[in-house]
Formats: sequence, C-alpha cells, structure tokens
Amino acid sequence: MKSIVALLFGVLALASSIELPSTFQTCHKSDPQYSACLDRAVSNAVTSLGSGLKSFKILPIEPLAVNSVKIGESKGPVSLKQEYKNIKLHGLTRNLRVYNYNIDWNTMILTSDSYNPQVDFVADYKVNGQVLVLPIRGSGHSNITMLDLNAKNTIYCEKYEKDGETYVRVKKYDIKFNPRKVILQFDNLFEGDTVLGEQMNKFINENSDLLFKELQAPYEETFGLVFTKISNDIFSRIPMEKIFPA
Ligand SMILES: *[C@@H]1O[C@H](CO)[C@@H](O)[C@H](O)[C@H]1NC(C)=O
Repeated sequence: MKSIVALLFGVLALASSIELPSTFQTCHKSDPQYSACLDRAVSNAVTSLGSGLKSFKILPIEPLAVNSVKIGESKGPVSLKQEYKNIKLHGLTRNLRVYNYNIDWNTMILTSDSYNPQVDFVADYKVNGQVLVLPIRGSGHSNITMLDLNAKNTIYCEKYEKDGETYVRVKKYDIKFNPRKVILQFDNLFEGDTVLGEQMNKFINENSDLLFKELQAPYEETFGLVFTKISNDIFSRIPMEKIFPA
C-alpha cells in the first residue's frame, strides 16, 4: 500500500513538474521589448511544432492533418455544397512571421498578426452546385493555395486553478485570413471531362476572390479549432507562470 501511494505521488510530482520544451523560448513580462520577444518566441514555437512534440502528444503540423470540413449550400452568386476529406495543410510553419503580439492580462485576450508566404489546403473534395450561374460538380483531388497570407489572430483565454496552480485555457481561437491571391485547383471535375474541367478551373480562378469569400469562414473556423486544440495541449500541462514568467 505504502509503495502504491509513493508511486502515485511520484507520478504526480513528475506530471506537475513538466516544463516547456527546450525549443520554446520564454519572455519575461518585465522585458521592455516584451511584444517583440513574444513575436519571436511564438514564431519559433510554431516552427518547432513542424515535426511534432512527442512529450505533449502533438502530431507534426508540417503538414497539418485535419478532419473533414463540410460547407453547406449558401444563397448568393456561389451556391455550392462542398465536402473536404483527408485534409493536409502545407506551409503553416514555413517562413512564418508573427508580429504585434499583445496580451491583455485583464481580459486574457491575446492578439497578433501573422504572415505566411504560402499555405496549401490539399484534400479530397466533393462539390455540387453553381458558381455564377454555371453548374459545377465533381470529386477528386483538390489544392487551394493562399499566397501572401496575412492573418489576424485573437485568442480568448481564461485562467483556472488545478492542484493549487494557475493554468490558462483557450476558449476560442479567432482567425481572420487576408490572402493576396488564392489559386484553386479541382482535379476530375465533371466525372473527368478534361475540357469542361479545365474551363471550369480557369473560370473559378478568374473569380477566385468571390469563391474564396464563400470558403473563408468555414476555413477560418477549422483553423481556429485546430489551433485551440494545439494551444490547450500545451497550456493544460504547464502552469501559467512557467509559460508567461514575470
Ligand atoms: C498546390 O498548388 C500550389 C500552387 O499551384 C503549388 O505550389 C503546390 O506545390 C501544390 N501543393 C501540393 C501539395 O500539391
């Protein structure tokens, strides 16, 4: 019995003394360059997650695998039922830049801007509907590329107590995309009719701004959910004062 108790406490001690990965850099609130330090630290942390983080059970994020996304038919110039499966996001960690990092300690809202030169959303797709009066349908491989992707991140957090320590939890990760250009490629449209398929891909790309407007919200939501999970995989294991030391 004694040994079981000892073992239990041993495990607890081990679990509660978990540290930030050595590849993560910490910033001190007293640092006069706190924001710039956070920009660097966050950008480095995300990049180091590229190959995953075993001790935190975080899978590699380069590429990042995402479950399916379903987008219902909307009313408007683009009314398109879309389904994406086996999604892989490429490029999230490549030459990522984070800037304007700010933490409001009262509201626990973290804001930042980020820039990725190129992010590819690669998936098996299924679409059915209309783009500007033209019918479109098909299923196969797709690749949606965002070039010069600027994003605004707003992370809503809260503090909570666990085992006498304060931890941070992400309640909602809000991300807004603003790419300079979007390139869409849908293989095998119209049951593989190459002439129609090519014309449609050309047409879609001539109107990519319009199409992206339809895709944007579900995309942002998907990214937000994934980033919430990854953040909480780290935050739930390390007390706040170790992540954000004074
Ligand atoms: C997706 O398309 C972009 C732009 O055409 C290309 O650079 C990229 O290599 C493609 N990604 C994949 C994984 O096929």
